[in-house]
Amino acid sequence: MRVTINQIKEMKQKGEKIAMLTAYDYTTAKIIDEVGIPLILVGDSLGMVVLGYETTIPVTTEEMLHHTKAVVRGAKRAMIIGDMPFMTYHTSVSDALKNAARFIQEGGAQAIKLEGGVTVAEKVQRIVECGIPVMGHIGLTPQSIHQFGGYKVQGKTPEAAAKMLKDARALEEAGAFAVLMETVPTPLAKLITDSISIPTIGIGAGIGCDGQVQIINDLLGSFTDFVPKHAKQYAKLADIMSSAITEYYNEVKAGSFPTDEHSFSMDESLLKGLK
Ligand code: KIV
Repeated sequence: MRVTINQIKEMKQKGEKIAMLTAYDYTTAKIIDEVGIPLILVGDSLGMVVLGYETTIPVTTEEMLHHTKAVVRGAKRAMIIGDMPFMTYHTSVSDALKNAARFIQEGGAQAIKLEGGVTVAEKVQRIVECGIPVMGHIGLTPQSIHQFGGYKVQGKTPEAAAKMLKDARALEEAGAFAVLMETVPTPLAKLITDSISIPTIGIGAGIGCDGQVQIINDLLGSFTDFVPKHAKQYAKLADIMSSAITEYYNEVKAGSFPTDEHSFSMDESLLKGLK
């Protein structure tokens, strides 16, 4: 049985911290799941850390579904949350419903995530009413990067802070089961966390959130184009990969790979007639 939204909501009530990670492929999802992480987000960060786009904006539903399916195959226990791409939930309630349904029906996810607060509340309410759990996403919402003019900390003025609190409350009222807060000052994220009954999951939002999320490639140190301030590298996988690949390259050039250990033998007399 997979982790349910009720279990996640109970974790907040009990004061248990919630860990979430992104994943985009079978192998990584399997490892994350075996560790026991309850929430896996197939984030549209896929576009930047896997597909090499400059922003998350070009990511399509087809690309997201392809990777969501792989993650669902890899993780047997975690709740899998599919991230709805740019403009797939803004144009109408009906488009939002159809696109959200694809993540559940085709992708095999158990929930979806979308960016925004008050502006998407009506869509969130209808998606939830139709039986699809929704995680909201406020603060720095990367799909609006051109509107923000860069990856800046959000909610630093009294007006912006009040708007963010309103967004969080709108998501709660619309029936979202959790709210992700990205790049939000610690005191504001704590105030929002204490003001709503559903769990908050922070990334660059400080220790006061109910849970934390990291992008797996940041955590492992495999994505090196840039390292955001909110990312903690628990490993330097890029260095490990580079030295392993260099060793392989040198061994192939030197003719020292493969040895018998990685080769297959046969009765050579069977080849006699072939010359
Ligand atoms: O797309 C993503 O990976 C996200 C991160 C902020 C967790 O939304």
